[in-house]
Amino acid sequence: MNTIIYLDNASTTPTDKRVIKKMLPFFSENFANPATKWTSSLSKLVDEEVEQARLNIAKLLGADPDEIFFTSGGTESDNTALKGIAFKHHDRGNEIISIPIEHEAVLKSLETLEGFGFKIKFARVDSKGFVDPEEIKRLITKKTILVSIMHANNEIGTIEPIEEIGKICRERDIYFHTDAVQTVGHIPINVKSFNVDLLSLSAHKFYGPKGVGAIYVRKGVKVKPFMDGGGQEKGIRSGTLNTTGIIGLGEAARLASEEMEQTESDVKKMRDLLWDKIQKQIPKVYLNGAEIDSRLSNNLNIIIKGIRNEPLLVALNERGVIAGGGSACAAGSKYPSHVLKSIGVKDNDIFGALRITIGKFNKIEYVDYVVQSLNEIVNSLRDLSPFWEGE
Ligand SMILES: Cc1ncc(COP(=O)(O)O)c(C=O)c1O
Repeated sequence: MNTIIYLDNASTTPTDKRVIKKMLPFFSENFANPATKWTSSLSKLVDEEVEQARLNIAKLLGADPDEIFFTSGGTESDNTALKGIAFKHHDRGNEIISIPIEHEAVLKSLETLEGFGFKIKFARVDSKGFVDPEEIKRLITKKTILVSIMHANNEIGTIEPIEEIGKICRERDIYFHTDAVQTVGHIPINVKSFNVDLLSLSAHKFYGPKGVGAIYVRKGVKVKPFMDGGGQEKGIRSGTLNTTGIIGLGEAARLASEEMEQTESDVKKMRDLLWDKIQKQIPKVYLNGAEIDSRLSNNLNIIIKGIRNEPLLVALNERGVIAGGGSACAAGSKYPSHVLKSIGVKDNDIFGALRITIGKFNKIEYVDYVVQSLNEIVNSLRDLSPFWEGE
């Protein structure tokens, strides 16, 4: 097959051509720095587009535009949220609560904070990846200043009970951050009903450009900036604005607001058909994480017994199918996925995990080709596999 069938959309998505079109003039004729908007009409024009982008993001989240701050992406937003709160409010306490299946951007930030004397407590997740809000309640003490729980997991698509956790934190006056990198632009979000104080998002996960994102910081919440400089973004994030990226992010947000419902339903239809056919055609294949209907609609994460995922991914790639083994950041890692480990999947099985994440540009007509390719490759790998014990 000459076409590439890209099924790794949780890793990154292709930039929507409408987003690129919107961005293009801001590389060349509209190149000005919005910081000089008071004196330059060109800067003013760029500034207006940046503010439109802020408004589009705010609308997507149910926030006010002045609660949105642009960053370089999900990693920076997570770092800003965790370190920004911890360093600003350490006089209130030194305990932070999270879960072990967070993205590395959160886990590594927490590790750094531990080095500064913060105490990190991890709430358990069950075999489907859900955290129990009661467990969070139990871990909270007078010293807890921050709870950070991701909205949906990037490997297994489990959607955490954010509203309930937000309520628990708000009632106790504890800051609550959610990494919503996998959900913004895909499913409805409302920062008010979620009771979040901080939320991270990234453009490239919802058909925007790479290297740009944003953080929502609820009005009145103070964070210590970790970039020193010219004081852009009200001092929260210094540095000349990535105007093209921000305008692309804004356009991606606008399109997501308009098309989310249809996109989610199309993506779910394709994911469900794929899973149905895989189960019918390939024996000993198991779902990782939440039940198929209570996870992100684009996510399928499976264990294929008796194989290793690297040769599978390479062979799929040779047939034009690109999928994932775990998170993109852990790709090529010889260590088993920390997410699958945390939900109790055995090491041998983890190495046979396949993550398929559907996007809006995938075509449902390709499902048969994908399943047939998968079936043939799995059969030949199992024939050679010392781990395959038969059906
Ligand atoms: C849940 C989650 N958080 C954070 C990130 C990091 O985002 P970015 O690639 O924009 O730095 C990712 C990217 O894989 C993610 O899936």
